[in-house]
Amino acid sequence: MTAASETPALPTARPAGCPFDPPEDYAALRGTAPTSQVRCPAGMDAWLVTRYSDVRAVLADRSMSSRGASSVHVKPDADLDIDVSPGSIIQLDGAAHSRLRKKVIAEFTVRRVEAMREYVQELVESHLDAMLARPGEADLVRDFALPIPSLVICELLGVPYADRSRFQHQSGLLVSTDATPEEGKQAYDELSGFLAELFTEKGRNPGDDLFSRLISRGSSSGDPLTMEELVVLGLSLLVAGHETTANMIALSTLVLLEHPEQRETVLAAPERAVEELLRYLSVVQFGVLRYATADVQVGSRAVKAGEWLVAALNSANRDDELFPGGDKLDFHRESPRTHVAFGFGAHQCIGQQLARVELQEALTRLFRRVPDLRLAVPRESLAYKHNTLVYGVRELPVAWG
Ligand code: HEM
Repeated sequence: MTAASETPALPTARPAGCPFDPPEDYAALRGTAPTSQVRCPAGMDAWLVTRYSDVRAVLADRSMSSRGASSVHVKPDADLDIDVSPGSIIQLDGAAHSRLRKKVIAEFTVRRVEAMREYVQELVESHLDAMLARPGEADLVRDFALPIPSLVICELLGVPYADRSRFQHQSGLLVSTDATPEEGKQAYDELSGFLAELFTEKGRNPGDDLFSRLISRGSSSGDPLTMEELVVLGLSLLVAGHETTANMIALSTLVLLEHPEQRETVLAAPERAVEELLRYLSVVQFGVLRYATADVQVGSRAVKAGEWLVAALNSANRDDELFPGGDKLDFHRESPRTHVAFGFGAHQCIGQQLARVELQEALTRLFRRVPDLRLAVPRESLAYKHNTLVYGVRELPVAWG
């Protein structure tokens, strides 16, 4: 690779005044140097892959290892050589990954997720009731966008009602960027301990939930998951499913507050609108990391075994080749589902149907019940999550009436 001093840094700065757009450098790179070397905050060099077709090819390539997922490249001083835990679905490769994924995927089919729609609707309505019962102002992140996906995950994992607040508190610390490393580790240990207790109990007294089914199916199939696998899988589902959807709900609300003329389109065709919001916002903002285990060609670049690659999802999703006028929010695009906001290939998001249902229900019900929703502060005063893996707005003060 190029000498350290010549390697440009991974572009991360978004254009001033454009909170929804990816770093400006991406558009130029797609044209002139679609796969180029960058220096990552973690200290290593990587190939930054910016074109849609190349991103899909990299993510579909079985010789690409996911052991660096999720996104260690943006964590300063990250340890790139740590062992992958056997339950870490997002980092496993090959047969170990397929074994785990096969066990979980049955829980996320369209049919199963549709069966949860009614529960999601009730959650959305009850949070709107609580919000509207207060006098005219709320933080939409704290009061709406964050609790809904977090409660959905609790329901999915089968966390008893009485334990939900504890579960939410620890998981909140785990995904918080404001928590110190000690707080983060403590939350991880406590949450792992809590999940281990919960899953032991489910082994004895199974309920009607994902982990009870995983445990009982495991014992009858002769290939049970170990407690470590169950706990790490539980943590992965919790973190992967919680932050992403919460940030998407809040950011999408902000987009729609800024584009009131588009709200009717969203209410009329929520499925299509949600796909466009996923593409346009691409909240997994630093892309996904891969490690080449064999020499491979990416476009015109020869990538060698042992090199890292960053598949820039937010760049791919703005590529004019696929999405003409890609920087524009357009709810009438053809094939709105071709975006890579959920990744692509073997690790493509397992919770995507659930995220879609949550987004559709949250956004349509919010704007139907509160048609006069507006920002309660000047737009320029909003703070964004520039330093977290999942992009979002920190607080969204809103008013109505
Ligand atoms: C808008 C919401 C969401 C977005 C944008 C999103 C995005 C992604 C992306 C980009 C990946 C691929 C990572 C990679 O290739 O390294 C992924 C994987 C994953 N997501 Fe999501 N996700 C969302 C919601 C959810 C939800 C609701 C759940 C669970 C309930 C979930 C669980 C997972 C899991 C378990 C994986 C790893 C799958 C595997 O490695 O086989 N996600 N997600």
